[in-house]
Amino acid sequence: MTRQLHFNLFLHDTGHHEASWRLPDADPYANLSLAAHQHLARVAEAAKFDSVFLADSPVTWGDPGRRPSGKLEPTVLLAALAGSTSRIGLIATASTSYNEPYNLARRFASLDHLSGGRAGWNIVTTAGDAAARNFGLDDQPLHRTRYERADEFLEVATKLWDSWADDAVVADKAAGVHARRDGVVPIEHRGVHFRVDGPLNVPRSPQAYPLLVQAGSSEDGKEFAARWAEAIFTAQPTLEESQAFYADVKRRVVAAGRRPEHVLVLPGIVPVIGETEAQAQELDAELDRLIAPQYALGQLARTLGVSPDLLSLDEPLPADLPGEDEIEGAKSRRTLIVDWARRDGLTVRELIGRLGGGRGHRTFTGTALQVADTIQHYFENGAADGFNIMPAVLPSGLDAFASQVVPILQERGLFRHDYDGVTLREHYGLPRPENRLHGGLLAAV
Ligand SMILES: Cc1cc2nc3c(=O)[nH]c(=O)nc-3n(C[C@H](O)[C@H](O)[C@H](O)COP(=O)(O)O)c2cc1C
Repeated sequence: MTRQLHFNLFLHDTGHHEASWRLPDADPYANLSLAAHQHLARVAEAAKFDSVFLADSPVTWGDPGRRPSGKLEPTVLLAALAGSTSRIGLIATASTSYNEPYNLARRFASLDHLSGGRAGWNIVTTAGDAAARNFGLDDQPLHRTRYERADEFLEVATKLWDSWADDAVVADKAAGVHARRDGVVPIEHRGVHFRVDGPLNVPRSPQAYPLLVQAGSSEDGKEFAARWAEAIFTAQPTLEESQAFYADVKRRVVAAGRRPEHVLVLPGIVPVIGETEAQAQELDAELDRLIAPQYALGQLARTLGVSPDLLSLDEPLPADLPGEDEIEGAKSRRTLIVDWARRDGLTVRELIGRLGGGRGHRTFTGTALQVADTIQHYFENGAADGFNIMPAVLPSGLDAFASQVVPILQERGLFRHDYDGVTLREHYGLPRPENRLHGGLLAAV
């Protein structure tokens, strides 16, 4: 079979454009609504998307006075969506900086059982001091330290998922044996950040592990992804940047001793689709008119690590900004934004307009045919294995993508007409992890 595209729907209440909630048809309570999320997941499933995804941070993000910023906990919401869908994958973000491996390994094993093998984990290290202050800290741990903890976190979590053999549970009523004793082993982990005895209190789940996804594009983030990730979400505003990122990550994956096709690169795309190009541009312009610039300016200042007073709406970014090395937050996003503004000579107001659409992801305004052509061009020119679909407006942007863009790509033989497999890993064409504690690598050591 020819290489196929993969689509993940990035769920984001009324849409990825920050002003989408203000459109006349928008449901301003969608962020807390099970029905709204069910609708989106079902539309994506009917269009044969690989998965849906929820971002998260354990902190109130942005200014709750200005836009819907309340968020339901992703694994809880996805457990509810597991009951409303049957095939589509369910990917939740969870932080390695503000969780313990045992709780999280248990939560994802539970989601994988409840969904019949459709769970995925977007592994993030969580940028920002505000989150740290919800967990007894004054400041966020250093960027490097967060990634070191993330590495050990994954070591522990994967051992916990391996602590039950696939065939440990025998449920032999006649003999009175529910699980083979030697099929459930402790992990006895003793590390720098964690001490965990194990075993996990959830037997091995259909996929063994949730699909491991990663979404930070700094140097440490890419190295971490090369070691652990099976899919990578990334914000790349241009084709050239996407190509460079794609080549860089695949090279790192090979250097880490893994096969490049076992790690899928999924850049974000924010499609604004119209019947005609002019209609799409009209919607884009209407959304941009609804942005509150002073609010957006505050957010921009936070990402750049400067005081908002240093930014003026009708001037370019100041020449003297903290470099990536001086930032302990989201390093890669800061660099992306500064490069974008400098290269295109943008004022702060223009930069805010661009970021309002997709926070640095590639926005694309046009007809369904143009969107499909762009996706195909990226896919066939070393820039992507698929896309994180981030409609500017939901649910209408998803409806347009599902009913107009997907059929074009199906017709061209680039996207599935139906699911071949059952689990999320099968949708992505990835192998199920071996058990390293029972008959796998560690047992042989
Ligand atoms: C599509 C996408 C989704 C992301 N979702 C989250 C998220 O839900 N929570 C989070 O803390 N970081 C998320 N990130 C990562 C941050 O943007 C940021 O890169 C990261 O926290 C810091 O990593 P870095 O310094 O390695 O870039 C996401 C990134 C991308 C590209």
